[in-house]
Amino acid sequence: MSMRIVRTIPELRALLKALREGGSRIGFVPTMGYLHEGHAALIRQSTARCDHTVVSVFVNPTQFAPSEDLAQYPRDLERDQALCLKHGVSVLFMPEAAEVYPTGFCSVVEPGELGNMLCGQFRPGHFRGVATIVTKLFNMVQPDLAFFGQKDLQQTVIISRVVRDLNLPVDIVVAPTIREADGLALSSRNAYLSPENRLRAVCLSRGLLAAESAFRDGERRSERLLAIAREHLTEVDELQYLELVDTQSLETLGAVVTRTAAMCVAAIVGQTRLIDNVLLTPDPDSAHFISHLEMD
Ligand code: PAF
Repeated sequence: MSMRIVRTIPELRALLKALREGGSRIGFVPTMGYLHEGHAALIRQSTARCDHTVVSVFVNPTQFAPSEDLAQYPRDLERDQALCLKHGVSVLFMPEAAEVYPTGFCSVVEPGELGNMLCGQFRPGHFRGVATIVTKLFNMVQPDLAFFGQKDLQQTVIISRVVRDLNLPVDIVVAPTIREADGLALSSRNAYLSPENRLRAVCLSRGLLAAESAFRDGERRSERLLAIAREHLTEVDELQYLELVDTQSLETLGAVVTRTAAMCVAAIVGQTRLIDNVLLTPDPDSAHFISHLEMD
């Protein structure tokens, strides 16, 4: 099947109904476009595990605060189409805002306290916007599996909780963060970085990877692990948070890491807000983060 580009919900529903009736397993990769190798990795996972992959490209206005970068958010629909085509996507869904949010739209999915932690402290309402659009997209696509990147760890935790709490019939797969050769986590927002800020931005992953390396060498004291990461974060303009949290509740860990934890960072470099995280797993054989979330 050649790739179909679809802009309306009825068209999407009709196409997917036909595929589903043929017994196809549908994989879904929701995105805001400006696709990069991280998205390509999610698409590859989906095409490997599903008969058909749907990618959505929709810059969701409700997850941006008025002061944020909605209007400037990078867009390149032609490149996105080419990447999807190259990676065997069956359906590219690119709705207009009015298709997604009809006049009078007023119902939301509220992720509760999980949405106020970490990034939520700095982006009030952001995760309500994410939980709402992802629930809507799940209802439009009705996928068997949906793929998200671990870089947006809080987003994956919230979406998994929404899926569980609202009994949405989809399995969530969280795929590892893809990094540049020097360690910087791939993100559409990296496009905003000047060459000088791009060099400084690498300190986020340096800090996290240094802490991860100390953890692998046996360091289990939370304060020490955070201090190791913090030493590298001097290059940022504003450190919003550096926290060691539980991967399910996102609550701050105690003095010693005894179960799988995530070290999460958010910082501003130049004008660009960047996030990143690494997982610290005391027993790598028994507790991989993906296995917590995936419900196959
Ligand atoms: O991660 C993103 O790109 C967005 O938050 C998502 C999941 C596509 C919802 O708009």
